[in-house]
Amino acid sequence: MISLNLKPAEKFIPKTLYDKYLQKALNSFDVLTDGTGMGNDFIGWITLPSTISESVTDRCLLLRDKWKSMGVDTVVVIGIGGSYLGAKCALWALQPSFGRVGDDFPEMLFAGNNISEDYLYELSKYLKDKNFALIVISKSGTTTEPAVAFRILKKLVKEKFGDKSAKERIVAVTDSVNGALKKEADREEYETFVIPDDIGGRYSILTPVGLLPIAVAGFDIKLMLKGARDMQEQCAVRNEKNIAVQYAAIRNALYDTGKKIEILVNFNPKLNYFGEWWKQLYGESEGKDKKGIFPASANFTTDLHSMGQYIQDGERIIFETYVLVKEACNKLVINKEDDDSDGLNYISGKRVDEVNKMAQTGTMIAHTDGGVPNIVFEMEKVNEYNLGQLFYLFEFACGISGYILGVNPFDQPGVEAYKKNMFALLGKPGYEENTKRIKNLYDFNR
Ligand code: PA5
Repeated sequence: MISLNLKPAEKFIPKTLYDKYLQKALNSFDVLTDGTGMGNDFIGWITLPSTISESVTDRCLLLRDKWKSMGVDTVVVIGIGGSYLGAKCALWALQPSFGRVGDDFPEMLFAGNNISEDYLYELSKYLKDKNFALIVISKSGTTTEPAVAFRILKKLVKEKFGDKSAKERIVAVTDSVNGALKKEADREEYETFVIPDDIGGRYSILTPVGLLPIAVAGFDIKLMLKGARDMQEQCAVRNEKNIAVQYAAIRNALYDTGKKIEILVNFNPKLNYFGEWWKQLYGESEGKDKKGIFPASANFTTDLHSMGQYIQDGERIIFETYVLVKEACNKLVINKEDDDSDGLNYISGKRVDEVNKMAQTGTMIAHTDGGVPNIVFEMEKVNEYNLGQLFYLFEFACGISGYILGVNPFDQPGVEAYKKNMFALLGKPGYEENTKRIKNLYDFNR
């Protein structure tokens, strides 16, 4: 169950402004759910939690068991953007902060989310002694970063285990019919999972893009889908109490008053990558046509010692959205020391989480006092169910919010610009004209 508290933000805007945006949010809710808005061929995620076939989740679990029986101890998940961040976020939240989940489940590593030679070299070296397998995820099948990583790691699999075993150790998650990866998977007889045509990358965490790595790592994907399904039901209710509608309304009302940066804040390192997933979702969905709130993230209390000064005292263009956790999963009490040289005996006997909660409350009071509106979400604890709830909630709110802003929340034309230049600079066939233009613009040999 996720709750939303708007009070620490509402006092920064006139009620009439919030009401205006609440009305816009309800109108956008209609556009989203009627499927009449921009990008409406990419809204398959809206009904996904309740329509996903059990055969998809069962196949994820079968692969988990198959690799377990083969003694696979390491799995590399290759992908970038929407084909990476959801699984990374969920695994970061669910796995123990140190060490592996248990001997039964593999260590999960990621590749294809950068083009660093050192990263790939060191990963290849690390894998040499491992009984490893690959999950390669790319909807288009042509994205450079995962394609480069896949080419190098696939060679490693074949060299170490042989061509026949490679078929058992490489699984592709991709488009149903098109794309280079699909063609290669069919030719090489790799098992494939489908990313539905009507679901874009950043809305794909509850497809095999996220579910497969999460299942292979040993977590309960059915419980995650149950959380998402319950949130789907909650979000489907068209009224002013709908928390997705409220969130979309208030962030746009704040934007209207000049708050141009939203920082997603946690007080729990397990949610560090939730901020990364959320940044892609909102950044790629809304940052277009020269508008959109700039999505940033901060991990407290860590970043209070780096970003805290600016947030408290810098330019007043920021608001914060807190994603808080009521209960820690474990219990640890601060011990008493006889000499009390560090002066901490006044908190001895308290749980570490109690101290964290006081830091949390203290921060929220300080930041609102300093002119930073706070939107506050809270969940009971970090688990599969609540993550499923959060994923769906923020996706649904993002669709509404994008329509309030007047943009297409389901495309990402701006992402292509760097790729065109990179291809031209690398001499990719078909980019000759651009190569000439770029070389005239910059003298790279200087
Ligand atoms: O949200 C998106 O659509 C993008 O971030 C993509 O997920 C990302 O560019 C990776 O694309 P692909 O899955 O085609 O390799």
